[in-house]
Amino acid sequence: MGTPANTLLLFGVTGDLSRRMLLPSLFNLDADGLLPEGLRIFGTARQPIGDEGLRETARAALEPIIAERGLDRAILDRFVGRLSYVAADASDPQSFGALGDAIRDRASGGIAIFLSTAPSLFEQTIAGLELAGLAGPETRLALEKPLGQDLASSQEINDAVARVFPEDRTFRIDHYLGKETVQNLIALRFGNVLFEPLWNAQGIDHVQITVSETVGLEGRTGYFDGMGSLRDMVQNHMLQLLALVAMEAPTEFAANAVRDEKVKVLRSLRPIDASLVAKETVVGQYVEGAVGGKPVPGYADELGAPSETETFVAIKAHVDNWRWHGVPFYLRTGKRLPTRKSEIVIQFRAVPHSIFAGRSAALQPNRLIISIQPDENISLTMMAKQPGLDRGGIRLREVPLDIRSLNAFADVRKRIAYERLWIDLIEGLPTLFVRRDEVEAQWQWIDAIREGWAVNGMAPKPYAAGTWGPAAAIALTERDGVSWHD
Ligand code: BG6
Repeated sequence: MGTPANTLLLFGVTGDLSRRMLLPSLFNLDADGLLPEGLRIFGTARQPIGDEGLRETARAALEPIIAERGLDRAILDRFVGRLSYVAADASDPQSFGALGDAIRDRASGGIAIFLSTAPSLFEQTIAGLELAGLAGPETRLALEKPLGQDLASSQEINDAVARVFPEDRTFRIDHYLGKETVQNLIALRFGNVLFEPLWNAQGIDHVQITVSETVGLEGRTGYFDGMGSLRDMVQNHMLQLLALVAMEAPTEFAANAVRDEKVKVLRSLRPIDASLVAKETVVGQYVEGAVGGKPVPGYADELGAPSETETFVAIKAHVDNWRWHGVPFYLRTGKRLPTRKSEIVIQFRAVPHSIFAGRSAALQPNRLIISIQPDENISLTMMAKQPGLDRGGIRLREVPLDIRSLNAFADVRKRIAYERLWIDLIEGLPTLFVRRDEVEAQWQWIDAIREGWAVNGMAPKPYAAGTWGPAAAIALTERDGVSWHD
């Protein structure tokens, strides 16, 4: 656990992620009285903006929250009062001296450092931190993605980090692990006896994981165009979701116990190599269409150049172990799809024999639907008797049993995923952060798919913005008699 941090140092404090997520989540925690009393927040930026510049940036980013939550302005004043700008030039580790002095001057206790900058700057930043005496046992380091572009570059980053920060003080962020329903999946699986006897190849027909977005490139040309959906979304968020669905029960809810189980799943993923990619993956890129009734341009038009980058990917994955033998995990993610949703659907097996033949629509297999966003909900579909006095017996209908967190915990504000992650980083609790071996197992599986695409010359198929990807993505499941849950 270590000493709770009472100093945060945020590299890239004026960047997009910081303004949209990191500062707002810290501010929410502060407004809820969840930050340590004397916590100081230092930020570095490319421009020498000074304390006032930083505080102005923060105010602009946080104003909407004041309005939305109806908060007192004094709370904002208190929060910006915690902020100080510090200068550090990542290309010049010697320049970190002043930063070290500033922080040591005003800090005692633990230090949490968050790198929200380009990974190409990580190595030098870490060298600078070490020179400045900010890499001691009281310091924890959090790293935002992308942690590399493939296994080799990820190992390079991990090696550079490991030279200075041991694994137990390295906190790799996957913000999906900070989401409420993702943690609820762990609670659901291991806090109840109900599902476990069926949670295997005997009870489950298949699993679907969908992360669909309505947004397009959002101006992230430099980053996304080099990356594509496979590396941007599947390598991290979706494989983490898959691992949580498929893992064995950890001995306790503690960092290494949970991560040991996840990594076993990631290592059991059947490689999808050149001989399989054409059958088990589908790649797409959106062309112009309409999302939510509004016309939108195609990816290449947004980018201003033709591109082979995929904005959609669907995969049929397998976890090769005893529990999951023969159970497909269908994954799909994409930009400019019809709706924004992240969900996991566990489809159980059909009843072995229907005694209701002819009395109802076909019996639907039970499904557990775990909605991560925009709704946070877990629902279980069941066949139930339709009310009424139907001639010739009873009629059945599929009905959902909802565990709608909005109802069950109505007074709880929907939190930004980073709020949980900040709290755990401050406290030094790494359970919801990703360990090196997980990231590397993820990359290994992804690299094989990309190599397969290259060998087979697989280019993205066009799909109109506002549709569920290329028709081949539908065929990927329909071949197995399965429909995507839309
Ligand atoms: C990020 C990706 O990791 O996750 C983005 O880089 C994506 O491309 C985002 O839009 C989605 O996160 P969320 O929380 O909105 O589902």
